[in-house]
Amino acid sequence: MTSRIIGTGSYVPAQVVTNEDLAKIVDTSDEWIAGRTGIRQRRVVREEGTSHMAAEAARKALENAGIDEKELDLILMGTTSPDHCFPSGACEVQEAIGAVNACGFDVSAACSGFLFALSTMQAFIQAGIYRTGLVIGADCISKLVDWKDRSTCVLFGDGAGAAVVRAEDTGVIHTVMKSDGAKWNVLSCVSRTGGNFINGITTEPGFITMDGQEVFKFAVKTVPACIHQVLEESGVSIDEVKYFVLHQANYRIVESVAKRLKQPMDKFPMNMEFYGNTSAATVPILLDEMNRAGKLNKGDKIVMSGFGAGLTWGATLLEW
Ligand code: COA
Repeated sequence: MTSRIIGTGSYVPAQVVTNEDLAKIVDTSDEWIAGRTGIRQRRVVREEGTSHMAAEAARKALENAGIDEKELDLILMGTTSPDHCFPSGACEVQEAIGAVNACGFDVSAACSGFLFALSTMQAFIQAGIYRTGLVIGADCISKLVDWKDRSTCVLFGDGAGAAVVRAEDTGVIHTVMKSDGAKWNVLSCVSRTGGNFINGITTEPGFITMDGQEVFKFAVKTVPACIHQVLEESGVSIDEVKYFVLHQANYRIVESVAKRLKQPMDKFPMNMEFYGNTSAATVPILLDEMNRAGKLNKGDKIVMSGFGAGLTWGATLLEW
């Protein structure tokens, strides 16, 4: 038994923030941002939080799958920006969608969150513990960036994507998951809570800090390597893969990965132009767009790959 994606959904906030809008608050330009990243606009929340976006994406995924929420056994949410330290955002989603028979918890792997959550779901399904699951990638990074720091605030956006999976004979073929804790501080964000026993002072809120060039070098090296690994271990040739659905951080990273894999760019769909880097949500949002556009046919082989803070990275090969 493996897990097959039987429905997808996504949600992005209505508020559009363009590169020109950002140029009014930090010293930047559309030319700089679009030229280096491919991003032209992003969606940013007004009132809604991570769980709201996740629940909206989940409802659409359930509708797309044509199953009732009560059939869900497990909800896994990849997020690093939950609305609360605890409980898990997955529990808030459970309540919002009425999945009364499920168990839910979050998976923290930053931008690799959706893939790590899907892989965890796969392990439960393969072991015969659960049959039907909901995997979400949702992040509200606008809450974690310093809107005065031009080196990070221009990169991110908010959003959520979800997939309903079910135990079937075909679906996920293989996954590779990796992390390098020695590089945890290349991309990080300090915890927002911090009462202090000695002086009672609460820690000042922290923001995302990042060594952009280090992240870039890491991504273009590790992503092709783990894609090769997942294919080799599955005995599937790279030319059999119809699409590579990569984390949408930067079009130059995607182009570099395509070049290193010696694969044509039309196998690498991209949408960061419209949403920026929505962290754990990029892969499921893109997957949902492709699914709804009718680009995915039964039997297609697809590789999904993510990378991010941890540092974490991974790749999943699946048959649609
Ligand atoms: N607008 C204008 N100038 C900016 C800027 C912005 N938003 N952000 C930084 N700069 C400036 C820098 O201050 C620097 O100026 P200086 O030369 O006078 O010091 C110059 O642009 C070059 O900065 P640098 O950091 O070397 O640029 P870069 O070519 O490495 O591009 C990134 C920066 C962030 C776009 C690039 O490193 C990247 O995409 N890294 C990956 C980041 C990522 O994807 N993170 C999320 C992973 S999940």
